[in-house]
Amino acid sequence: MPGTSSPEETPGAPPRTPEEVERALEGVLEAVRGCPDAPSLRRLAAEWVSGRGSRQRAWFSALKSAADPAAMGRALNAFKSAVEAAVEERLRALEGAGPDRAGGAPEGGFDPTVPGRRPAAGGLHPITLVARELEAVFANLGFEIATGPEVEDPAHNFDGLNIPPDHPARDPSENFTLPGGLLLRSQTSPVQVRVLESRSPPLRILAPGRVYRPDTVDARHLYAFHQVEGLCVGEGISMADLKGTLAAFAEGFYGDGAKTRFRPSYFPFTEPSAEMDVSCPACGGSGSAGGNRCATCGGEGWMELLGCGMVHPDVLRRAGHDPERWTGFAFGMGIERAAMRRWGIEDIRSLVENDVRFLGQFR
Ligand code: DAH
Repeated sequence: MPGTSSPEETPGAPPRTPEEVERALEGVLEAVRGCPDAPSLRRLAAEWVSGRGSRQRAWFSALKSAADPAAMGRALNAFKSAVEAAVEERLRALEGAGPDRAGGAPEGGFDPTVPGRRPAAGGLHPITLVARELEAVFANLGFEIATGPEVEDPAHNFDGLNIPPDHPARDPSENFTLPGGLLLRSQTSPVQVRVLESRSPPLRILAPGRVYRPDTVDARHLYAFHQVEGLCVGEGISMADLKGTLAAFAEGFYGDGAKTRFRPSYFPFTEPSAEMDVSCPACGGSGSAGGNRCATCGGEGWMELLGCGMVHPDVLRRAGHDPERWTGFAFGMGIERAAMRRWGIEDIRSLVENDVRFLGQFR
């Protein structure tokens, strides 16, 4: 660099006169003032004056051979003090600390330049993550979010869904029945009824939410869990729309190439009814992984994901819509189950134990 003399450019040969020491000093001082940070400043100081192997020390040991050893000794001492003072000054400028703070905080003291300790950041629960992703996938298919109360009446939880009075699901031992005849909803399907009562088709809604059943807690059951309900009603909606929509959902949620299969089933509020399986995301549907039986689907190649069907004419009629004009499809799925499938979670209880070692994996 023209006009500046870095210490590297200072002749390697030791100075033999006080004048040569002075010239070396000028180069070093300039390098000190231009030093960009504390570590390189300390390196520089070590090289020239403070280290055991510093140049100043080496020059000192060659003192005897100087023409005027006494003058040379004074020059070398002055060199050392001048470099040290310049280093101190530069350190203060770099660290922005007061005169007594040069070189860093005193032991045990507070150093305002040290970065603070970051508190551990929280994250969203895997159930929330899955619910939001489901909402996003179905939003792309034109579905709006709908909600309903967790404390329901039998008219919405059962009657409006065509569930007859003697149906076993209505037995008080199968539900959390509250004083006064209300109950904690056992499914998100009553949101279908509420939406159909308050709006006219065409409509497409998705209703995620918490549901309750008095099941004994084990690796596959909780007494409070989450479902997501879907409903699409319009003119000319057919089973083909149901299959196309749910196949698109499976690809959106489990990735391109996810296959679906429908098996006949029964629900009082749909006719016909089906259960949809999705090809196992772990083995791609082959049932084997690395020559062994796929652990995720147990070798089946398929995993049961949701219940669905064409909205029963009685459900439409009860809500005041003409089933000759309007048709539609509906589906319901457990969010815990979808999350477990997604990440290979084996025990549903790990989702409610609040162990941050588990939860921290889903950020
Ligand atoms: N409500 C059903 C359940 O809890 C799930 C379900 C099945 C919902 C079929 C639907 C449907 O909307 O069409 O098991």
